[in-house]
Amino acid sequence: MQREQKQPVLITGSTSGIGFAIAETMARAGHAVMLHGLASPAQGEDLQRRLRKEYEVSCGFSSADISSEAGCAQLIADTREALGNPAILVNNAGVQFTAETSEFPTEQWQKILAINLSAAFFLARDLLPDMRATSWGRIVNISSVHGLVASERKAAYCAAKHGLIGLTKVLALENADRGITANAVCPGWVETPLIQPQIDSIARTQEIDTEAARVQLIGAKQPLARATKPEAIGELVLYLCGDFASTITGASLPVDGGWSAQ
Ligand SMILES: NC(=O)c1ccc[n+]([C@@H]2O[C@H](COP(=O)([O-])OP(=O)(O)OC[C@H]3O[C@@H](n4cnc5c(N)ncnc54)[C@H](O)[C@@H]3O)[C@@H](O)[C@H]2O)c1
Repeated sequence: MQREQKQPVLITGSTSGIGFAIAETMARAGHAVMLHGLASPAQGEDLQRRLRKEYEVSCGFSSADISSEAGCAQLIADTREALGNPAILVNNAGVQFTAETSEFPTEQWQKILAINLSAAFFLARDLLPDMRATSWGRIVNISSVHGLVASERKAAYCAAKHGLIGLTKVLALENADRGITANAVCPGWVETPLIQPQIDSIARTQEIDTEAARVQLIGAKQPLARATKPEAIGELVLYLCGDFASTITGASLPVDGGWSAQ
């Protein structure tokens, strides 16, 4: 049984972490959801089944590798086949690699730029004509606090995430009178499985308890030393896609415990 569906949303990199939290939030609100990420068909089927059962919405899944223009075209074709044209695009897929700039490998630079920045450009470019035809669309780019400020050892990530904010502003200006908004969300520390090993390592090496280690890790960057829950990013994306956000465009919204306010 399915309830009435709201506009289909394509969320890149939504087989895990923040992307899946966004997918769940959008599904809970009644949007048809296109899941995407480097997962097996069985994993994709399992995630779709969860959303269909829990929220009674239509769902699709694509494992297209979006590190190339052809992969982005494949993702759009898969989405149209599963759900029709997505009126909402959430560019969330992202990868990270850290090294001093003087030692940064070329292939890591190119991979991060391709997935974290170029894919967002290709997908927005190719979906905009249909959004314009219906005079309604939403583009939400998951940038990062590293789209606003820098950290050492993150040349490619910072360049891509700053670039994504620039792209967001251009998309907003070019579509301001067409019912289409484009915004960037800039998370600081988010509670994903990546964090715990770093906390455990601090606790072990400094012989402090886990809670003190957590405050130390997050507090080193954030005045408010608490990580954001992935669901909070989902709720912000949902808000940006709703009617009350129709005049929010070209914005870069930090969700970073004050990190970028310093
Ligand atoms: N986790 C954080 O603390 C944090 C903070 C700020 C910003 N972000 C950003 O939020 C986004 C999601 O982060 P996350 O921590 O949930 O990541 P994650 O590693 O849990 O998920 C990344 C997703 O991207 C997909 N992906 C990676 N490479 C791909 C490729 N070549 N083709 C297709 N899909 C690919 C993966 O399959 C997965 O679904 C990223 O853009 C990240 O930069 C995360």
